[in-house]
Amino acid sequence: MTIALEAVALTKAYGSVRALDDFSLSIPAGGVFGVLGPNGAGKSTLFRIALGLVRPTSGSASLFGAPAGDMTSLRKVGAMIETPRYPPYLTARDTLSMLALESGTRDADISGWLDRVGLGGAADRATNGFSVGMKQRLGLAAAFFTRPELVILDEPTSGMDPAGIQEIRALVVDLARKEGVTVILASHQLDEVRRVCDRVAILSKGKVVTEGAVDALTASQVRLRLVASPVEQVLAVLGEKGAADGPDAVLADISRSEAPALIRALVNAGVEITEARWREADLEGVYLQTLKSSGAA
Ligand SMILES: Nc1ncnc2c1ncn2[C@@H]1O[C@H](COP(=O)(O)OP(=O)(O)O)[C@@H](O)[C@H]1O
Ligand SMILES: [Mg+2]
Repeated sequence: MTIALEAVALTKAYGSVRALDDFSLSIPAGGVFGVLGPNGAGKSTLFRIALGLVRPTSGSASLFGAPAGDMTSLRKVGAMIETPRYPPYLTARDTLSMLALESGTRDADISGWLDRVGLGGAADRATNGFSVGMKQRLGLAAAFFTRPELVILDEPTSGMDPAGIQEIRALVVDLARKEGVTVILASHQLDEVRRVCDRVAILSKGKVVTEGAVDALTASQVRLRLVASPVEQVLAVLGEKGAADGPDAVLADISRSEAPALIRALVNAGVEITEARWREADLEGVYLQTLKSSGAA
């Protein structure tokens, strides 16, 4: 398996803050990989190191086997970090021409790329009149048009409305599939991540707390949903392992083998159980539960 981004024992210290703390992660080539975590978890620091913008205090990072920051690895990566800023008086077309020159890209199909990201009609307008969504679109074109093997998108839909988020999401998926590019996406939009990403890593305090395929992560955190009355009694029996789910149901964070004893205990306590069903967590549930059990939230 080819590894797109490999971080080995990365530490980045800013004074007493460890933005990354003995951080190791392998991101396979192909597909879309989500990087999740609360603000300050170290996501952007990881990307800055991968792009050669920041030097790690210790440890190493590589892109497709080449050390991060080397010319060979820089040629393989495109990036969009939040809402990109461009020289305000350049048109979208001139902005891409300038970036093509800077990166030494020849024969870039600039008009074609502007069409693909939906900016064909605005190609010759100055970018200072662009909305946030238009700047993100231009940022995506800029990240992909040099034909990199890896594209890093750091919160590409921050500050966008739901319709814009949906469009950018569709565009990212389309580009990742059609260009065969590996995409690493950091986002707080868990729904977006669930729809777009094959695998995710959840970061907290400069470390990876969980990593895996989205399907496997959601399947690994099944809970027993009990529709029962009185709900208060179920919650009392479950203690820390119970959480109310609406007015008449409880989610029990227990293993399969614990279920028969729990149901017996509830019946003995006079609880009426109408329904008991195993339910997979959604990505949001996995995220919150993972951070909770790692002591971060
Ligand atoms: N240039 C910097 N100087 C000082 N502290 C920084 C710098 N960059 C990041 N940090 C700190 O490192 C931690 C991780 O930040 P960051 O990588 O931006 O997290 P995220 O992108 O997950 O929100 C935070 O505590 C942040 O304040
Ligand atoms: Mg960040």
